[in-house]
Amino acid sequence: MKALVLSGGSGTRLRPLTHTRSKHLIPLANRPILHHVLDKIGESGLKDVVVVLGANGKEIQESIGDGSEWGINFSYVEQKQPLGLAHAVKTARPLLKDEPFVMFLGDNILPEGILPYLRYFESETPDALVLLHPVNNPSAYGIALIKDHKVQQLLEKPQSPPSNLALIGVYFFSPKIHQAIDRIKPSPRGELEITDAIQDLLEQGGRIEAQTIQGPWFDTGTPEDLLDANQMFLDHLIPINLNEINPSTTINGPVTLGEGSIIEDSCIVGPVIIGSNCRIIRSYVGPYTALGNKVHLEDSGVERSIILDQCQIIKVPRLIQSILGTSTQLREIERLPTGLKVQSADHTKMWL
Ligand code: G1P
Repeated sequence: MKALVLSGGSGTRLRPLTHTRSKHLIPLANRPILHHVLDKIGESGLKDVVVVLGANGKEIQESIGDGSEWGINFSYVEQKQPLGLAHAVKTARPLLKDEPFVMFLGDNILPEGILPYLRYFESETPDALVLLHPVNNPSAYGIALIKDHKVQQLLEKPQSPPSNLALIGVYFFSPKIHQAIDRIKPSPRGELEITDAIQDLLEQGGRIEAQTIQGPWFDTGTPEDLLDANQMFLDHLIPINLNEINPSTTINGPVTLGEGSIIEDSCIVGPVIIGSNCRIIRSYVGPYTALGNKVHLEDSGVERSIILDQCQIIKVPRLIQSILGTSTQLREIERLPTGLKVQSADHTKMWL
């Protein structure tokens, strides 16, 4: 069976981060989201993956390489405009042929993986198998109404949700989904919704099954989701210290330190992951922080944050629950920039 991985989409809810980088390549515990997705596909034993590329296609291809890291063969298809998940399937149809496949949205984190569901789909052969997870804000997702594991109704982002069970971004399909996609019309947001296609299949008498997953799931659509998912990965961190730590530094809890990184007169409380060639001087790095490569931290404190490559954080006493994009400079300033109007002479004021 083939897997279809969607890596297009513009990630508007993650602006400004997604102005310069694909949402699928934002790192969680210093590993791009899409790589975590491919880890789960590789673990399930699937070898043929069709990747749907959007505007950031080149960047995605460079990042995942030839697939040898996962023992996977990639084939690529370009979705010229982000016209919906069902449109992405339509674009990939020539490569999927008339065979069953699993579709995995490249921004969905499912730590428990897909293997039990894949086995179930292969043995029970429903027309589609969807995975569900209870959510607090059902109007933001595709929602399913189910009875005895059978789907009764599916609605995309309903205003009055009939349940709190959200469709997660992993779907198992028989080839019948292609005819359903041919029948549906764009939604009010102008997209061909995969939820509408599955609802159509249901109305045509298709057998649509659902399984509610027990473990966590993150759709990484908001900064809060990214910080939560980063925390989950760091909870499973295997500490590796590639460098000698200066004796003036205290390290508690699991900490992974990349090659060439230097820590002096600092305190690190894990779980924390630090990339390569970082400099951490007279600083505090608290639990659930991921620092990318070449990050420079001086006289500062960071906790529960994702700091991308080449950031500089100087004299910032406390930075918490934050995400800094690549090469961001954050520093205390002695004098405010000319032209910036301030109410009071507040020396702790910082600017980006
Ligand atoms: C998409 C689907 C939605 C599903 C969600 C899961 O939403 O349309 O049904 O619940 O993925 O991540 P989108 O991310 O396009 O808003």
